Amino acid sequence: MTRNDDVDRARGPELELATTIGKSDEALVIGLIKADSDDAAAEPTLAIGDGILDDAQAEAISNAIRRVGASGGHGEITKMPAPDSLDVGLVVAVGLGSADDLDDAEQIRQAAGIAARELDGIGQVATTLSSVQLGAAAEGHFLGAYRFDTFRSAKTQPKKNPPARITLLVEDKGKAAKAELAHAAAVADSVAIARDFVNTPPSHLYPEEFADRAVRLGSAVGLKVEVLDDKALEKGAYGGILGVGKGSSRLPRLVRLTHTGRKDAKKVALVGKGITFDTGGISIKPAANMDHMTSDMGGAAAVIAATILAARLDLDVSVTATVPMAENMPSGTAQRPGDVLTQYGGTTVEVLNTDAEGRLVLADAMVRACEDDPDYLIDTATLTGAQLVALGSRTPGVMGTDEFRDRVATLSATVGENAWAMPLPTELRNDLKSRVADLANVTNNRNAGMLAAAVFLKEFVASGVQWAHIDIAGPAFNTGGPWGYTPKGGTGVPVRTIAAVLEDIAAQG
Ligand code: BES
Ligand code: ZN
Ligand code: MN
Repeated sequence: MTRNDDVDRARGPELELATTIGKSDEALVIGLIKADSDDAAAEPTLAIGDGILDDAQAEAISNAIRRVGASGGHGEITKMPAPDSLDVGLVVAVGLGSADDLDDAEQIRQAAGIAARELDGIGQVATTLSSVQLGAAAEGHFLGAYRFDTFRSAKTQPKKNPPARITLLVEDKGKAAKAELAHAAAVADSVAIARDFVNTPPSHLYPEEFADRAVRLGSAVGLKVEVLDDKALEKGAYGGILGVGKGSSRLPRLVRLTHTGRKDAKKVALVGKGITFDTGGISIKPAANMDHMTSDMGGAAAVIAATILAARLDLDVSVTATVPMAENMPSGTAQRPGDVLTQYGGTTVEVLNTDAEGRLVLADAMVRACEDDPDYLIDTATLTGAQLVALGSRTPGVMGTDEFRDRVATLSATVGENAWAMPLPTELRNDLKSRVADLANVTNNRNAGMLAAAVFLKEFVASGVQWAHIDIAGPAFNTGGPWGYTPKGGTGVPVRTIAAVLEDIAAQG
């Protein structure tokens, strides 16, 4: 990898608008609407804007689809040779479900992602899904075509790549369409930045390197950047980050990235957990699946990517990401269960379990973030296995101050990330009492682990700040097979939720 690969490399296909299929398009992706189920004889219909195909072309495709028996059920893929009247060789039909589903952006995004995963080996593809919903089609195609092959030698480098260019067919490629596409492309590229970070192995992404890459990417879009190295962390008394980081030979960092809105813009603080690898420390994790802990910086990746996006979209909101980065290792210099550390700001914490390290690095960062007097604070982290137990692998949990928490959950649903609002039961605070310090970092039982972690974090949120904490332990990293526009590995969740919240705050405060 050259030094600027992370800044310059294309993270997905080029996206272009057109009103008709072009000479260099090799395949056509076309959406199929499922027939009304009351009518047994009905056939699926083509989802396509006016003027994109002529009547004869549309008729020829419809006939071919009828012959192969496609249903138009959501996500169904049918590949067939294109009729002679078309300039492309191949037609890839993708089911969009029933006509009522066409208004649901997520259905289009998922279908576009599924289609994109079927196009390896084709250089340039035209799509009609953009004539149904341009932004959703662009995001879904781009995110479905995402690949991470940086660490494959020629031996296993795939012979067939996803399309390098996607032509988005629309009825009108005027100003509104251009703006919608630019927005979708910026959002999708930021998701890909977060995925790249998560997918980069811990051998290559350790705190110092993570900080360097965040600074390069941030500087390239005009963010103000600041890095506290281990010495600066000592000097500043960031006891949580230092305590977690001291078991590793790769020393911790705290990165700060700022996008500045116009005068009187609202201030949003973002904080993301950046544990580049979590062995558990002295409270070591079992070997099985420990490799998944390469994703323990998914929260950091997301807030860095979202701040870059705020700059690219020039959002009228001031955003500062405060990102603690450390590696949680067991060693002769590691913190011990029973150690007491002093968080940034002075709260003392008894570290009963060194594997509950995320809350320790987040607490320092959140106190620091609140010194900037933000209106809102969003933190996100692969924080608890309990998130997976409570909500499964695709549904982030969101906790915090009631109103803002609900706003985040509602906006998350609009982008298809579906974070779900969860409570902060006051009785859990008692379970975090320590025999010797202000707080213990874990409770003495397994109940409501996701909520208990959030109750711990609440202690570090300044009063008057509207706060949302998003636990993404499952959703940040896909350990199963690819689905929709989500590949294996890093997913980029919750970049689009944070982006939607920042845009909403920019629009209405
Ligand atoms: N990084 C883990 C949480 C995690 C688990 C993320 C599974 C992704 C998948 C976190 O640091 C952790 O170890 N949490 C402990 C907390 C416990 C000791 C209170 C956990 O969930 O077991
Ligand atoms: Zn962790
Ligand atoms: Mn841990």
